[in-house]
Order: sequence, then structure tokens, then C-alpha cells
Amino acid sequence: MRVFTKKEEIQKHLRELKAKGQSIGFVPTMGALHQGHISLVQRSLEDNDVVVVSIFVNPTQFDNSEDLDKYPRTLERDTDLLSNVSADILVYAPTVQDIYENEVKSEHFSFGGLEFEMEGKFRAGHFDGVGTIVKRLFEIVEPDNAYFGEKDFQQLAIIKAMVKIHELPVNVVGCPIHRETNGLAMSSRNERLKPEYKKAAPFIYKTLKSAKKQFGTKSAKEVTEWVEKQFDKQEFLKLEYFTIADVETLKPVKRKSNKKKYRAFIAAYADDIRLIDNIALN
Ligand code: PAF
Repeated sequence: MRVFTKKEEIQKHLRELKAKGQSIGFVPTMGALHQGHISLVQRSLEDNDVVVVSIFVNPTQFDNSEDLDKYPRTLERDTDLLSNVSADILVYAPTVQDIYENEVKSEHFSFGGLEFEMEGKFRAGHFDGVGTIVKRLFEIVEPDNAYFGEKDFQQLAIIKAMVKIHELPVNVVGCPIHRETNGLAMSSRNERLKPEYKKAAPFIYKTLKSAKKQFGTKSAKEVTEWVEKQFDKQEFLKLEYFTIADVETLKPVKRKSNKKKYRAFIAAYADDIRLIDNIALN
């Protein structure tokens, strides 16, 4: 497995492969890889001649410096895991300097309003940071296809919007959420959960599934009130938001229409660890 740390080197290597007609699949990550990431890598291996995985904890997308400091950094374990999947994967693990040079700063983006909903209300500057890093990585890797998990559904929507608005020549592929057997959505943050919080966390998905059932007959407002009550009874989880939103606009649904598609979204704290999850409703 080749691990590149310098953008010029990986760019040169990939341009040579592209010149030979090879297609490039790209899986951007912040490391601490788990089966959810591996499923994206496998999909990318199926679709492309060459697969690049970036491992970079991007400072500009963290609104909380403690969260950034505590974010797991496990490069050796990550590269071992990837080499068990395929020895041909190319890893790009840059330093902050390689990406940002002397200015660790986000660009400002407009994502057609998607950035103001849900995560955008609670994580100031987060999506500018995501847009900045993903756009830079796309410029370096120049992938044909790029793979993102639906766990971060709003991020996926925002990246699709960015690609459209900036006319970036890449096909963005959304991939299903990978879950533990107890239903908890896989996340690099899960490994920081203390036992009692880890035990409580599957309640998030259990609640999403009940919300989905109820949405068949009840209004979004009724379902939301029910979810909020259930979380009030939880000792180890604190709800930040529950929203039922239109999948196109990500705006909360006011009146249901059977012409539209909806998804329910949760963000909750387990101790100081913020977990998110979502489910398709129709
Ligand atoms: O989803 C993530 O892990 C990150 O937000 C991403 C897309 C790798 C950008 O840093």
C-alpha cells in the first residue's frame, strides 16, 4: 500500500494513471476507520480502477477545539485495515500544512440554503469547513467518483450542491448507513463512548424506527413531541434536535405531501460525545 503525504506527489501519480485511462474512486475520511468506511471503500473498488482514501482530521470543520483535540488519530491501524481490504489502495494522509499552507481558514460557501438547517444551526462554520476541505481534496485527487455515507445526510446533500454550483467534474455517490448489530450507526466517535453511554446509544435508532412507523398516521409535530418525551426519560442521552425534513430542501415538514420524500434526523449527546443518525420515512 502506498501512503502519500504530499499533494504534489499524489497528484502526479494520479495524473499518470488517468493518462492511461484509469478511473479514480475517492473516499475522503478523517480516519479512525470502521466498517462504515470500509463499505465505502469496497463500493469504490467495485466501481473504479484506482481507489484513493484520504485520512485527514480537518481542523476547519470543528466548531469546538476540545472535540478536535479528542478526535481519534489512528493512522497505523487505519492503513493496516485498508491493506487487508486491498493492497492497491492509495492513501493520502497530508499534514495541515500540506492542505492549508500558512492559512488554516475556511472559504465561505453558499449551498442554496441547505447549510442553515439542522447541523448548520448547532455547528457554526462547520459546513464552510467541510466545503473547503472537500473542494481542496477534489482538486488534488481529481476523482471520477467520490463516496460519502448517508449517516451525514446533510453533508452529502451539501457536497452534491457544491459540485453542482461550482461545476466540479466529479460524480458524488451516497452510500447506505452501516450499523452495529444493536442498530447504532457506525461512527469514529463511538469508540470514545463509556460503557453506560454505549449501552444507551442504540436508543437513537430504535426511536427513529418508531418515529417512522408513527409518521404513517401522525403529523410531524405529533411525532416530534413523542420523540422529545422519550428522550426526556433517558438518563444517558440528551436530545439536541429531532426533525422530520424534506430530503430535497432539508427544511422541516409543515404539512405532509405524498409527492415528497422525507427523512427523520436526530442529534443527541451521550456524555460529551455528539451522535447523529437519520432514517428514510417514505
Ligand atoms: O465525513 C467526514 O469524515 C468528513 O466530514 C470529510 C467528508 C472527510 C471531510 O473532512
